Amino acid sequence: MRLSVIGCGYLGAVHAAAMASIGHDVVGIDVDERKIASLSEGRAPFFEPGLQDILTAGLASGRLRFTTDIGAAAGSSVHFIGVGTPQQQGAYAADLGFVNAAIEALVPHLRPGDIVAGKSTVPVGTAESLAPQVASSGATLVWNPEFLREGWAVQDTIDPDRLVAGVPGGPEGERAAQILRAVYHPSIDKGTPFIVTDYATAELVKVSANAFLATKISFINAMAEIAEATGADVTQLADAIGHDARIGRRFLGAGIGFGGGCLPKDIRAFSARAEELGKGESVAFLREVDAINLRRRERAVELVTNALGGSAVGKKVAVLGAAFKPHSDDIRDSPALDVAVRLKGLGADVVVTDPAAIDNARRAHPQLSYTRDLDSALTAAHAVIVVTEWDEYRRALDPERAGLLVDSTVVIDGRNCLDAAAWRAAGWTYYGMGRP
Ligand code: UGA
Repeated sequence: MRLSVIGCGYLGAVHAAAMASIGHDVVGIDVDERKIASLSEGRAPFFEPGLQDILTAGLASGRLRFTTDIGAAAGSSVHFIGVGTPQQQGAYAADLGFVNAAIEALVPHLRPGDIVAGKSTVPVGTAESLAPQVASSGATLVWNPEFLREGWAVQDTIDPDRLVAGVPGGPEGERAAQILRAVYHPSIDKGTPFIVTDYATAELVKVSANAFLATKISFINAMAEIAEATGADVTQLADAIGHDARIGRRFLGAGIGFGGGCLPKDIRAFSARAEELGKGESVAFLREVDAINLRRRERAVELVTNALGGSAVGKKVAVLGAAFKPHSDDIRDSPALDVAVRLKGLGADVVVTDPAAIDNARRAHPQLSYTRDLDSALTAAHAVIVVTEWDEYRRALDPERAGLLVDSTVVIDGRNCLDAAAWRAAGWTYYGMGRP
């Protein structure tokens, strides 16, 4: 099938390349000339495992191309909208400017019978309000939310755990669902559930999934706070409650909390939308989820300061990690960088290292010092804090050897990802989050 993908960021670029990899003929469109130039030359514009391979293969097959010309969408039967919906400046609500602009630019190029499939995360009610504009060209709007995780985006796009399509009622909606089934048939044939809903349900599935995940993380971080007050160990607690299949161990990783371009802004946008609907109290707990999450960053800073004897002034702190999570170079709302910035603000001599995110981090926070070399980050450090659980720190970093490089063998494990016993055995003073 001929497909267009409008917006070539983390979502759209992966979607375009993944759709080409399953046999479709795809054009990726974005207003950002640098991004399009990079994709057209076969260079993934961000770090995402597996993207480079399907990008190279797609371009070589002739089934994948990129352009800044929205007119290139003409002739595709399905047009995916994958533009960003960031948090508004100075407010909790989502900024729909990119979605509105994409639809406006696309409509003149639509043919009757085309499908416009929104993938961006939007406040409930958005599809309903955009549908007439799409219908004016004889096309049909569906909402087809995306559940990919950065770092696993290629796999999640090609083999998602579910597909959701919010469609209008009647035969038009049935036809639209049929066309989306055809797009995703390789995955549906393998048994992926394909759930057809109305618009509001599809939009809510997306935001409620992210709200649930954020709540799960903040729940365990709240338990970490209680553990800190009582001498309990939140990691053992998570292991123990995680054995209950109704609870499950995944997303019970206590530490400095969630960040990234999705969970933080999505729970805020959900709160704002619920308030508009007069249902603010239904999701009032999300404010608490947000507050717990932000408190953990402060707690990590406090652990470092205490470990340094009450003041960070002039002390070298090695910050291991900058990305909001491993296998990503994304630093949007990164808890890791937030901790680094706060420590710098307290007068510490902060040196940040990360296997993938240094360039992005330096652009956003030029006031910090950076090194790609883990050893030089560690050298003469008065404290080490692990803030992104890359394998390079979790598995590959030998506490014995690291101990020879630093000035003081003090480590703060902001992700509870190190083997505490091994670090202690190597002579380190180890502090975890919510651990004795
Ligand atoms: C999240 C969702 O997991 C995806 O399903 C969704 O599609 C995506 O948002 C989106 O809306 O686009 P992502 O932002 O890539 O995906 O990252 P997650 O893997 O959810 O991690 C989010 C944050 O939570 C990271 O900072 C991570 O370090 C933190 N986290 C995760 C914890 O602090 N503890 C955990 O146990 C798990």
